[in-house]
Amino acid sequence: MTALLEMRNITKEFPGVKALDNVNLNLLEGEFHALVGENGAGKSTLMKVLSGVYPFGNYDGDISIKGDVQQFQTIREAEEAGIAIIFQELSLVKELSIAENIFLGREPASFGVINWHKMYQDAARLLKDLRLDLNPQTEVGNLGIGQQQLVEIAKALSQDAKILVLDEPTAALTESEVETLFGILRDLKDRGVGMIYISHKLDEVFKMSDRITVLRDGQTVGTKPAAEMDKDQVISLMVGREVGDIFPEVSHEFGEVALEVKNLTAFEFEHPDKKLVDDVSFSVKKGEVLGIAGLMGAGRSELLLTIFGAWRGKHSGEIFVEGKKVDINSPKAAIDNGIGFVTEDRKRYGLILDQTILDNSTLAGLKDISGRFLTSRPKELAATNDVMGKLKVKAGSALTVTGTLSGGNQQKVVVGKWLLTSPKILFLDEPTRGIDVGAKQEIYGEINRLAEEGLAIVMVSSELPEVLGVSDRILVLHEGRATGRFTREEATPENVMAAATG
Ligand SMILES: Nc1ncnc2c1ncn2[C@@H]1O[C@H](COP(=O)(O)OP(=O)(O)OP(=O)(O)O)[C@@H](O)[C@H]1O
Ligand SMILES: [Mg+2]
Repeated sequence: MTALLEMRNITKEFPGVKALDNVNLNLLEGEFHALVGENGAGKSTLMKVLSGVYPFGNYDGDISIKGDVQQFQTIREAEEAGIAIIFQELSLVKELSIAENIFLGREPASFGVINWHKMYQDAARLLKDLRLDLNPQTEVGNLGIGQQQLVEIAKALSQDAKILVLDEPTAALTESEVETLFGILRDLKDRGVGMIYISHKLDEVFKMSDRITVLRDGQTVGTKPAAEMDKDQVISLMVGREVGDIFPEVSHEFGEVALEVKNLTAFEFEHPDKKLVDDVSFSVKKGEVLGIAGLMGAGRSELLLTIFGAWRGKHSGEIFVEGKKVDINSPKAAIDNGIGFVTEDRKRYGLILDQTILDNSTLAGLKDISGRFLTSRPKELAATNDVMGKLKVKAGSALTVTGTLSGGNQQKVVVGKWLLTSPKILFLDEPTRGIDVGAKQEIYGEINRLAEEGLAIVMVSSELPEVLGVSDRILVLHEGRATGRFTREEATPENVMAAATG
């Protein structure tokens, strides 16, 4: 049987980096094929070669679809050959509506005039297939990242592709959104669509995959049926060693209360009568890690944003830092009070992608708002190198442009940037999203080390094992309300989930 897709001996170099070194991958009709590997292994690059982002001539090796050699010059040519890709970094235009984004460049038209009615209708049908209760005329910039991700998926589905590439599609989705997506992917599989699925969530990989290909340092380690492997084997193929327990041994000594929040309530900006956070109180001590668990939409990010002075909607409540009541009405005020914040949406709040790691780490904006300088360029460079080393950021140097880093390595730069402001209280919102197991282990170790140094840490995470693995105490939110409080000893996956679902 001819493969639906064959990529042979693909090699792709960037200045100073061999991102792909003779990689082979083939895909069958109706196959769900997972592509896994550590951050920076070359997964996204391979898919950019496939989808025409890097045109023919810009890489070595060849690509054929059903035996016919393909030489794409543009993304459009790849689309015409039946390839649709959902990129890891969302590529929607925030100022345009959902429908405009879905049909961008392919707007239904007659005699050169866009048929808006048909466009909105078609978009509404796609959204309905995804069980998304959204108006196609809504501006994309007003959606949360989970919803934006689903719009991105609707866009790919609208193309009627034979080959669908999904690069980390579930990173920002709720469990039920993931189930909806998987239902759709199973239908596509039955219709013969071949899928290449990139994910760091190995549970998903094993649930869905027919075969798994592992990349390491730009090379193919191997391809095998999923049924012939288990999770530990895949991890050791990815990392090149046994990983063992990824959570650190903890023995935190707690100091005084660093942060106390009383009766915090926050309303949605656009619907000022809708409560997103409802009368939540908690405290966290120096040296303590407080995990905040809950489902997507439970109000976890909104809680942190409000404390940080970054919530635009109406809100109320009291905040005490080291026992002193403080008024925080801007992120600058929060930073002045010693609070740092690693946000979940690194593109929107975290990084300027066309600047270097060094510039991002010592970000002008951050200096402006914090007024806290590292005094000289050499010192900044030394400090940045130090943090990069600790977090094992894979990059040529601190002067590498951030946008050229792999997704997971960008996330590490965001974490590193806040460590450089030496906060007393650190908020982490989904700190390991898109990060491979080896790097997760590094970040957990770092969280633990910071707590041992006396930092108070508040971490929001959708990954239950992570919350249970690193938190000293856990606060659970459900629909904006605190529905559970557990110590490390009390917490089990069952009782935390029960509180999270109300
Ligand atoms: N445009 C670019 N310019 C320079 N180097 C790049 C560029 N894009 C990728 N790289 C480098 O190529 C290597 C592979 O990156 P790639 O994005 O393919 O990794 P990945 O496997 O998708 O990782 P992740 O799981 O973190 O998303 C990395 O070392 C990365 O820094
Ligand atoms: Mg990637």
